[in-house]
Amino acid sequence: MKKTVVMTVTSLLLLSGCGDHTKKPTYEGAALAEQKCSHCHNLEMPPKTSPDEKAPPMMAVVFHVRDFMKVENPSEKRQKFIDFVTDYVINPSASKSFCDKKSLQEYGVMPSQKGKVTPEELEAIAGYMYDHFDPGVYLKIMERKARMEALPAYKRVLVQKNCLGCHGVEQDKIAPSFHKIAQKYHKVGKKTMAQSIRNGSRGKWRGFKVPMPPFRDLSDEEMNAVTDWILRQ
Ligand code: HEC
Ligand code: HEC
Repeated sequence: MKKTVVMTVTSLLLLSGCGDHTKKPTYEGAALAEQKCSHCHNLEMPPKTSPDEKAPPMMAVVFHVRDFMKVENPSEKRQKFIDFVTDYVINPSASKSFCDKKSLQEYGVMPSQKGKVTPEELEAIAGYMYDHFDPGVYLKIMERKARMEALPAYKRVLVQKNCLGCHGVEQDKIAPSFHKIAQKYHKVGKKTMAQSIRNGSRGKWRGFKVPMPPFRDLSDEEMNAVTDWILRQ
């Protein structure tokens, strides 16, 4: 049993890495899912859940349909999944749903989307769903997230926002070095520096033509940590 699982994941990874011809339909599928399904199903991975959601998150839908669907040969799974989804979206019913009884009662059976999505569009959406909501990919995302969360806050900001893509620590790049910035802000103060980072900055440093974009979504803790770190350089 374990062997089959490993083999399935490996073959999925091979499939998902197989080049350009898979890219276009995947992209179309993603855009179409956004248009046609996202007002009920949350499409993020990991998903955002809310108490008043209209439908289970798409990741949950795909994972459990994948789990419950029986196929003799793992290579048939993708096509069988696509067949199930293209049928279900047009002809949904409680008896076909893999949703457990309690959830089905809470959400109600999905209203048929007949007339709102064409069979070709559905095929692209279903293919995208199968490829994108892949347990192996999910695992990697969660591992990366855990690694990020384990970093000290200043480092997390530097990595996630790619501060060091523009700034060197000692050397100027397309932005002034953090060493120079530290020298200036030792006098000016950390608060003003934090405002610049939050709102972006342009024209304050001679010889640097690109503006710095705003970073409004940093938490107070992250801002504090990164400005302290800059002042130590
Ligand atoms: C109006 C809200 C709504 C829209 C729009 C919607 N869904 Fe659903 N969907 C639901 C609800 C509610 C359920 C859970 C109950 C059920 O299984 O029928 C569900 C369930 C499903 C299931 C079955 C899950 C299972 O466990 O068997 C699939 C597959 C699915 N949706 C795919 C889609 C796709 C693809 C789209 C976009 C083309 C879409 N849905 C658009 C509300 C919606
Ligand atoms: C796209 C390139 C880019 C990125 C990414 C970037 N910066 Fe900058 N940064 C600049 C440039 C260019 C300047 C100089 C702007 C100017 O002349 O006002 C600057 C200036 C600054 C200043 C001084 C601002 C001032 O008003 O004096 C600070 C502090 C700073 N950056 C911190 C950061 C931090 C922290 C990050 C990551 C969260 C970051 N930067 C990411 C390009 C970048």
